[in-house]
Amino acid sequence: MLSLLKLAVLGLASVAAAQVDSGNGVHVPGNVPANLYEPLQHRLAFAGVDGMTISWSSFTKLEQPQVAYGDHPSRLDMIANSTLSTTYNTSRTWNNHVKLTNLKPATQYWYKVSYTNAAYAAYRPLYTFTTARAPGDMTPFSIASFADLGLMGHDGLSTRTGPLGGPTTFLGANETNTIQSLLQMKDTYEFIGHYGDIGYADYFLKESIQGLFGTDNKSVLPDRETVATRYESLSEQFFDQMSPITAEKPWMVSPGNHEANCNNGGYSSKTAPNNITDDYCFEGQTNFTFYIEHFKMPSYESGGRNNFWYSYDYGMTHFISLDTETDLGHGLVGPIENSTNNQNGPFGLMDEQVKWLVEDLENVDRKKTPWVVVGLHRPWYVSVEPPTWPAWQQAFEKIFYDYEVDIYTQGHVHVYERFNPIFNGTVDANGMENPRAPWPIVNGAAGHYDGLDTFDDVRYNGSAFGIDDTYGWGRMTFHNKTHVTYEYIASGNSSVVDSATLYKEHKFHKK
Ligand SMILES: *[C@@H]1O[C@H](CO)[C@@H](O)[C@H](O)[C@H]1NC(C)=O
Ligand SMILES: *[C@@H]1O[C@H](CO)[C@@H](O)[C@H](O)[C@H]1NC(C)=O
Ligand SMILES: *[C@@H]1O[C@H](CO)[C@@H](O)[C@H](O)[C@H]1NC(C)=O
Ligand SMILES: *[C@@H]1O[C@H](CO)[C@@H](O)[C@H](O)[C@H]1NC(C)=O
Ligand SMILES: *[C@@H]1O[C@H](CO)[C@@H](O)[C@H](O)[C@H]1NC(C)=O
Ligand SMILES: *[C@@H]1O[C@H](CO)[C@@H](O)[C@H](O)[C@H]1NC(C)=O
Ligand SMILES: *[C@@H]1O[C@H](CO)[C@@H](O)[C@H](O)[C@H]1NC(C)=O
Ligand SMILES: *[C@@H]1O[C@H](CO)[C@@H](O)[C@H](O)[C@H]1NC(C)=O
Ligand SMILES: *[C@@H]1O[C@H](CO)[C@@H](O)[C@H](O)[C@H]1NC(C)=O
Ligand SMILES: *[C@@H]1O[C@H](CO)[C@@H](O)[C@H](O)[C@H]1NC(C)=O
Ligand SMILES: *[C@@H]1O[C@H](CO)[C@@H](O)[C@H](O)[C@H]1NC(C)=O
Ligand SMILES: [Fe+2]
Repeated sequence: MLSLLKLAVLGLASVAAAQVDSGNGVHVPGNVPANLYEPLQHRLAFAGVDGMTISWSSFTKLEQPQVAYGDHPSRLDMIANSTLSTTYNTSRTWNNHVKLTNLKPATQYWYKVSYTNAAYAAYRPLYTFTTARAPGDMTPFSIASFADLGLMGHDGLSTRTGPLGGPTTFLGANETNTIQSLLQMKDTYEFIGHYGDIGYADYFLKESIQGLFGTDNKSVLPDRETVATRYESLSEQFFDQMSPITAEKPWMVSPGNHEANCNNGGYSSKTAPNNITDDYCFEGQTNFTFYIEHFKMPSYESGGRNNFWYSYDYGMTHFISLDTETDLGHGLVGPIENSTNNQNGPFGLMDEQVKWLVEDLENVDRKKTPWVVVGLHRPWYVSVEPPTWPAWQQAFEKIFYDYEVDIYTQGHVHVYERFNPIFNGTVDANGMENPRAPWPIVNGAAGHYDGLDTFDDVRYNGSAFGIDDTYGWGRMTFHNKTHVTYEYIASGNSSVVDSATLYKEHKFHKK
């Protein structure tokens, strides 16, 4: 009982920590499994043109995480091993990562991780995934694309909010949420681009202050130990909720502000007396540790840095993921890099991210991958309190323009808003018909405890369409070399409620 021992040492006793699965083969999210080796929270990520990283969590360390796999469900005749089973202070789980290599492109595989059939573990099916299309493969494909997706249910977005304040939009009694919609629609996209704000475990404090877990003083101002344990519990539950999808569809993530620390950047309220600072978080729940430990993005394969900036190809498209939170280069300070209550990064050397971005774009072979799509967390064009010339725009927008990035998608603001192609505040005169400027789309309306945001009275210049009252996710379809369609899918009924198609000749100005 290593992990329970570890919790006891840290003094992190809580209801969540004490509850153990009954051993009847069904894992209850937030509980400790009866068999600590039980594989949970499976998640995939592309790892170079012929690779796939299989990650999962267990409540104890694995000496040698292992994946058996093959291209037929009855023939898992290949085995990949690793030694990557790591944890961090305050975590209850170990994160296991195994990279499969030399896979064939656009090929279906089946896999099983260590201890899948272990005693007292839940019954698990064989999982399956399909590898990326080779660069230059012009077969049409779709991806799911969104930001700001949080935990659903009792501890997250549900039909209720705390009595001491909180959002005015939550879920209707029988409303299908975004995780459910993504699961139902799993056959309509190949993988997921999730551009920051992943789970919102750091909302435990805000939810508490708003009385979601009781209105007595102790509930409204939980002590550090409670915050630490429940942060992990919320995170575990979110990964449990996602795993029916992410065990089979690669989940390509970008860093958002809610991955940074345990307390939502020192969330405080006017009604509750508190002194919530960075120091409230234990070591292990600051500086993006949760994000670094849980995921394994292909930065090694693309010369990027950890899960912060990296790229990968899929068929006719080159995908790039960036970090808007830290490491903006050129002496610019990231929004939560040196802020009083949320000190994070830097994760690279001076100017490393932008230098890498330029080099990565220089090296794109647009004969093979005519489309270049960037995902990053914070927007600059958005009709909800738009920031004025923010540092992250200064860092990236001109590079996107110079290198003819086609599309960039962002979130952070909890609306869906599609712009006309625009650069430096000037809308491209060509509109969607072969513009020179990139096409920005904000899609932060997937849903989390705090509900949705509301558009300002006046839409920002260049805004083409927006929705601020319906949870949903995006589906981006690459038809061919010249046409891509972005759709907004309402999670409540999985129907397309907005659709726009971009046409690009792709006769490049740069060599
Ligand atoms: C993985 O480990 C198993 C033993 O646990 C061994 O039989 C196998 O050869 C290893 N595979 C590789 C690729 O290292
Ligand atoms: C945190 O973890 C590190 C390495 O695992 C360890 O050296 C350190 O003592 C831990 N800190 C606390 C406060 O437990
Ligand atoms: C939700 O579904 C239940 C069971 O079908 C039904 O009784 C209830 O009226 C529904 N509530 C709403 C708000 O639609
Ligand atoms: C709870 O907090 C309020 C306001 O800070 C305080 O007046 C009250 O004495 C506290 N109650 C208890 C039982 O500590
Ligand atoms: C907040 O900090 C002040 C000064 O350090 C201290 O007197 C007070 O007790 C603290 N309040 C709480 C609720 O911890
Ligand atoms: C943030 O603060 C640290 C410590 O003061 C400093 O070394 C670093 O240069 C600052 N980062 C930026 C981007 O200004
Ligand atoms: C955050 O982690 C990075 C990488 O480990 C480290 O270089 C940096 O100094 C840390 N920043 C803070 C504020 O702890
Ligand atoms: C953006 O527009 C402003 C004027 O509105 C101009 O001063 C600036 O040079 C432009 N920046 C770029 C990168 O074109
Ligand atoms: C909006 O954009 C158009 C086209 O670029 C420009 O003519 C107009 O001046 C802009 N309006 C504002 C308020 O910036
Ligand atoms: C590319 O796809 C679009 C949308 O499906 C279609 O209208 C167009 O004809 C296609 N172009 C070619 C060259 O096939
Ligand atoms: C799906 O839900 C959206 C948002 O509530 C609504 O606007 C749309 O009409 C619905 N579509 C269908 C086909 O029911
Ligand atoms: Fe955010």
